[in-house]
Amino acid sequence: MTLLEIFPSLRAAMAPRLDPAVWPITTGHDDRGRIRVGGVALDDIADQYGTPTYVLDEDDVRHRCHAYRTAFPEAEIAYAAKALLIRAVADWVTREGLSLDVCSDGELAVALSAGVDPGRIILHGNAKPAAELRAAVSAGVGRIVVDSHTEIRLLSSLAQRRQKVLVRATPGIDIHGHSAVTTGIDDQKFGFPLTDGHLDAAVRLVLEQPNLELVGLHCHLGSQISDSSLFATAVERIVAQMGRIRREHGVILTHLNLGGGHAVPYLPGDPELDLTGLARVVDDALDDACARNRFPRPALTLEPGRAIVARAGVTLYRVLSIKTVRDGRTFVAVDGGMSDNPRVALYGARYDIAVANRHPTGAHTAMTVVGRHCEAGDVIARDVLLPTDLHPGDVLAVPCTGAYHHSLSSSYNAVGRPPVVAARDGRTRQLIRRETVADLMAREAGL
Ligand code: LLP
Repeated sequence: MTLLEIFPSLRAAMAPRLDPAVWPITTGHDDRGRIRVGGVALDDIADQYGTPTYVLDEDDVRHRCHAYRTAFPEAEIAYAAKALLIRAVADWVTREGLSLDVCSDGELAVALSAGVDPGRIILHGNAKPAAELRAAVSAGVGRIVVDSHTEIRLLSSLAQRRQKVLVRATPGIDIHGHSAVTTGIDDQKFGFPLTDGHLDAAVRLVLEQPNLELVGLHCHLGSQISDSSLFATAVERIVAQMGRIRREHGVILTHLNLGGGHAVPYLPGDPELDLTGLARVVDDALDDACARNRFPRPALTLEPGRAIVARAGVTLYRVLSIKTVRDGRTFVAVDGGMSDNPRVALYGARYDIAVANRHPTGAHTAMTVVGRHCEAGDVIARDVLLPTDLHPGDVLAVPCTGAYHHSLSSSYNAVGRPPVVAARDGRTRQLIRRETVADLMAREAGL
């Protein structure tokens, strides 16, 4: 008999360390060495709801909201709903004092049905269809961030009362990140560059519309930014524009929206944007820029999405098969893949991974975890250390999958999208049910 069999509680003490930087805040192990989130063993969630399943730690989401409110007591924090929008999540974040940024009439409908005050909603998008603008105007959305001349004219014709708007500016700042999420440079589709009169033409057009009230400027530099000085540069450039707009148009803009893009770690050791540091840097930049331009300090809005929900999410998969090919690489195939996590294929994202249903005590070796879809690029985690005794039926957990996973999921290969299950205080609650084959068939018009 082994020591572990005599003292099962030793398993918890011996369980491999799960880095709190990438796992939800309530993560721990039970006395059988199984990983727990929200006081529930992930293995039990896999049994109850099937796999793959997205698990969400409600305490973690609330904790991140609280951290933002503490670091920025005077700023508005608008959660970027594109990261993950479910009615329950909209409810949690707004109860924690956040506003909401939406970017489609679908997101707007979910937010409104969760009871979010329309006055606290900001609508984004570089190409908003007329029906979307109409829905926003009739719901009484607080602010709309405009992004083209056509949109400015259309919105003005649809507005029933004076609609508050911000113009999206492109401050010419390169975050040197993935090109798909680099949005602060001139050569991409969002916003009006500060140069060559582009921003000024848009501002002028808004000011000509009697139904629109220009309240501020917005910019979003991109994703996974860990260097706060980039935000300071954005403040400097945007406040200078505000000073110029006052001089040239006699209008004082009162809102500065700096967008989101705050970096979170996906792997242990990855950089993270430090909120206290960001608060200090942005505050100093605002002081300097406002003094230099003799401009009254505008109200600040930040729009974090990923930093609110990424770390709350863990995706559960069941191992279906294990195969070692000629050059010695071992492929572990699981029952999900790029339909529930396209981020590896899209951005080359890297993930941590762990066995959730037991405490593996033996040797570990590098393996590549792949999905079930019909592409060689359908990879979940490349060259990760997993136990050599891994076998079909084991449950694998991938942390940091709360942002842009459910919202980016597809039904590729007619594989239904996973459910979203919240865990808190030892109980689970299904927020989104699994998409079934019957759901997919229901969209078919027939032969
Ligand atoms: N505000 C605006 C106007 C945005 O476009 C975005 C993200 C955010 C805020 C929030 O950014 P966050 O804090 O979440 O980084 N699918 C990609 C991310 C695309 C982000 C698009 N815009 C991914 O999975 O990494």
